[in-house]
Amino acid sequence: MIKGFKAALSAAVVGLLAGTALDAAPAVAQTADSDLVAKGAYVARLGDCVACHTGLHGSVYAGGLEIKTPIGAIYSTNITPDPTVGIGTYTLQDFDNAVRRGVRKDGSPLYPAMPYPSFARMTDDDIKALYAYFMHGVKPVAQQNRPVDITWPLSMRWPLGIWAKLFAPAPKAFTPAPGTDPVIARGEYIVTGPGHCGACHTPRGFSMQEKAYDATGGADFLAGGAPIDNWIAPSLRNDPVLGLGRWSEDDLVQFLRSGRIDHSAVFGGMADVVAWSSQYFTDDDLKAIAKYLKSLPPVPPARGDYTYDASTAQMLDSGKTAGVPGADIYLNQCAICHRNDGGGVARMFPPLAGNPVVVTDNPTSLAHVVVSGGVLPPTNWAPSAVAMPGYQKILNDQQIADVVNFIRGAWGNKAPANVTAADIQKLRTKGTPISARAWDAGTSTNSTWGFFAPQPYGAGWTFSPSTHTGVDAAQ
Ligand code: HEC
Ligand code: HEC
Ligand code: HEC
Repeated sequence: MIKGFKAALSAAVVGLLAGTALDAAPAVAQTADSDLVAKGAYVARLGDCVACHTGLHGSVYAGGLEIKTPIGAIYSTNITPDPTVGIGTYTLQDFDNAVRRGVRKDGSPLYPAMPYPSFARMTDDDIKALYAYFMHGVKPVAQQNRPVDITWPLSMRWPLGIWAKLFAPAPKAFTPAPGTDPVIARGEYIVTGPGHCGACHTPRGFSMQEKAYDATGGADFLAGGAPIDNWIAPSLRNDPVLGLGRWSEDDLVQFLRSGRIDHSAVFGGMADVVAWSSQYFTDDDLKAIAKYLKSLPPVPPARGDYTYDASTAQMLDSGKTAGVPGADIYLNQCAICHRNDGGGVARMFPPLAGNPVVVTDNPTSLAHVVVSGGVLPPTNWAPSAVAMPGYQKILNDQQIADVVNFIRGAWGNKAPANVTAADIQKLRTKGTPISARAWDAGTSTNSTWGFFAPQPYGAGWTFSPSTHTGVDAAQ
């Protein structure tokens, strides 16, 4: 797929060159076409279509990725141009209806696991390019779609239509506010539109709709989401402790394309985003995203500012860990990589001191990475795969709870020590995220629709199987 993408790009370039050198008329038509296909391939990268529409070890875009929901599993669909089982017979209008309106060719509504509420903001031009790419740049694969594993009556799709009417924004191509810096406008377009960053990073309302689809929605926009796959997407607002307040624009650019910067390393659901999507963004687009995120209106700092506290390192250096739950476990298991000072090793082992993901209110992600470990995905910009071991079999529930609580309060991190052994047990045996307890004030994501709620993606949905992480099968 990457090769295909590159090939499409170079074909476009060759086409361009040919267009200037040879007989103009036929070459121009062909150039326009392959240009459009190449542009569509790039828009597909922006939208990360491949991550969801490729089954585990499956053919690119042939669908079949299982997405678990509280009422049963659904499967992403075949979006290759196969005429019988794919979208080969879709007209531009049919395609647009699916991508921006969440309506299938047969008229039934799609599950919002397909992030059409964000895609609704995509421009007509990008939709046309995407369509050209899916029709002409993608290889047809005759792989049947799998029906949903949800029993009747919950499998009925009509409530999804009601949901869409109530909560999904009507498709309206993005137009920047008058006077917006064009670079910031481009960043806003990618973040709120094709990039669907808010699908994970914005908290959900009572029926799982995103609480805000752009900055006009106030402080909720990109304020940090609910667990998906037991990973928490933290705030992308400029809070100095919980968000990106201490990140520079350059940090953001480097993080999105290589997954690692001196003070953070990508993991969990975001590793998929970097591996499949953002590492391919152009420099200009990465800079635009960074500039836009840094330009978001300031939010009141929820926990003041971050100041490093050297006493944790002194305690660990001296070995006097008695009476501090989790400290000896940290020393024995974690310090070799994350160091006594919590500073890690730049671009290899992320620091835990002052790291927003360590102090985010809901500790689910943190517990999850300690239980399951992780692999820093190799990218074109940082080819080595660096791993963190999983402690599933090495530490017991209480020890994991203790070490997680310990890092949440060490080196000046000031998060509540709110993880219990019971939380860890449920997480590792049943995959249950740690409950919202202390963290949902103001950002409650619990659905009250319970029974017939279509539950678009948010708590309870699982998406990004770890085998996807770092392995772009499409390459
Ligand atoms: C977060 C996961 C996710 C992402 C990202 C995603 N999709 Fe989907 N998409 C789905 C799921 C799941 C379905 C099936 C939903 C259902 O069955 O109701 C779907 C359905 C569709 C359909 C409808 C197919 C049909 O049967 O009519 C099209 C077309 C589509 N997606 C195109 C895209 C394109 C193009 C992109 C990238 C711009 C994209 N999707 C990105 C999850 C995703
Ligand atoms: C599939 C869900 C998902 C999507 C979509 C997503 N993210 Fe993330 N993001 C996460 C998770 C989970 C984390 C926490 C793990 C980490 O820090 O690597 C995260 C972390 C981040 C971080 C690091 C924050 C920190 O404090 O360490 C940045 C920056 C970021 N995402 C930017 C983006 C941008 C920009 C987009 C859209 C282009 C995006 N994300 C889309 C899930 C997602
Ligand atoms: C062999 C080195 C190594 C050891 C030992 C180790 N880690 Fe990690 N840790 C890593 C790497 C590498 C990552 C990045 C993982 C990824 O991207 O999936 C990481 C990521 C993390 C993160 C997520 C922070 C971020 O920004 O990515 C936390 C939290 C964490 N480790 C805690 C711990 C704890 C607690 C222990 C001990 C129980 C531990 N680690 C032991 C290497 C290690």
